[in-house]
Amino acid sequence: MNFAEIIEKKKRGGVLEYEELKYAIDGYVSGEVADYQMSALLMAIFINGMEDSEIFAMADVMRHSGDELDLSVINGVCVDKHSTGGMGDTTTLIVAPTVASLGLKFAKMSGRGLGVTGGTIDKLESIRGFKTTLSGDDFIKQINDIGVAVIEQSTNLCPADKKLYALRDVTGTVDSIPLIAASIMSKKLVSGSDYIFLDVKCGNGAFMKDISSALKLAVKMKTIGESAGKNVEFVVSDMNEPLSDYIGNAVEVYGALEVLSGKKCKLYELSRHISAKLLSMAKNIKFGDALKEVDGVIERGEAKAKFFEFIEAQGGIIENENELLCDSVDVMASATGYVKSINCNKLGRIVCDMGGGRLKKGDVIDAKVGLKILKRVGDQVRIGETIAKLFYSKSSQKRFAQDVQNCYSITDKPTEKLKLLIDTRDCRYL
Ligand code: URA
Repeated sequence: MNFAEIIEKKKRGGVLEYEELKYAIDGYVSGEVADYQMSALLMAIFINGMEDSEIFAMADVMRHSGDELDLSVINGVCVDKHSTGGMGDTTTLIVAPTVASLGLKFAKMSGRGLGVTGGTIDKLESIRGFKTTLSGDDFIKQINDIGVAVIEQSTNLCPADKKLYALRDVTGTVDSIPLIAASIMSKKLVSGSDYIFLDVKCGNGAFMKDISSALKLAVKMKTIGESAGKNVEFVVSDMNEPLSDYIGNAVEVYGALEVLSGKKCKLYELSRHISAKLLSMAKNIKFGDALKEVDGVIERGEAKAKFFEFIEAQGGIIENENELLCDSVDVMASATGYVKSINCNKLGRIVCDMGGGRLKKGDVIDAKVGLKILKRVGDQVRIGETIAKLFYSKSSQKRFAQDVQNCYSITDKPTEKLKLLIDTRDCRYL
């Protein structure tokens, strides 16, 4: 087989066979295939798409590119969740300790930032000392001991996704349904949980801009999971404004701690939904009862205590929550009226440009920079009122405040607030 022929075939819209995808992906993992060759193939896939047979094959080859974890040695029911990525999407840091304090075992493999969206692994690494790679044995031991562990792909675990993910991040090949489906589901199958909940984002700050594409992606991932014998459910959630009140890395950990301390906001609403869904799937209880259990562990501080146990188990230290924040400058409203829309993607771009994300492969990120969102779509504002805060680590970054202001569009007409959970029952996706 010849890599150039595989690129050529995909470029012309051909359907790749399992063996061709295996040759390409295994070659890339072993180093025989260069970045520039794989970039060309990814772009051909991005442009021409993939048949279901190719997506399934790609997920399977990626899943088998390293070791697979056997969670049968874990005492208890293992659950996992994954989001397709958005701005201020920190649900893992809340769902993980919440479901673990309710007796489930949370076993997750996450990724770094992708495009302008943040990644759980970068957020966790913003915590002093936190280790994002564990051996398979240590991963399993930690889950047995404290009920929760979150790791990144490694040279042993899903190495194909680790390498492809980093390459897609800097080659404009992220927002592709087949590539996202194969990437997410390969990790979910390697990390071995039987119950998986997927949060598929939709909106101007998500890879899927409309509901039908979000639903199409959700159904593809569910089918891959179910054909591997997993229980998979999903929600489509809004990403036309940031989920958390914070966007960045360390600041998002701060935002997650606010929710674990009882703050009621959109991040709480979605984390509560995902936690309760996992609980009702894994324990076969009614969703309403699961919601009450979730609220209980957050109100009693048990989920927050579990968060610190999890951080410490992976070497992380947070002595004082304020150490996660740095200096900030206010961003003012440019007019009086109502927030009509927020350019969520642009907000993510600003955080990236400040150093909070990667512009090229291997860039080291500035974990401290970020934003706090004080006004959301539908909120009333007065000219000069603070609508956001910009966290900076170098005073030259203060200039980005103007760009943040430009992300807000303000109208004099009252505007509806955005619904977080999108009802997809009547949507068409095929
Ligand atoms: N999250 C992933 O893990 N992979 C993608 O491709 C997109 C989001």
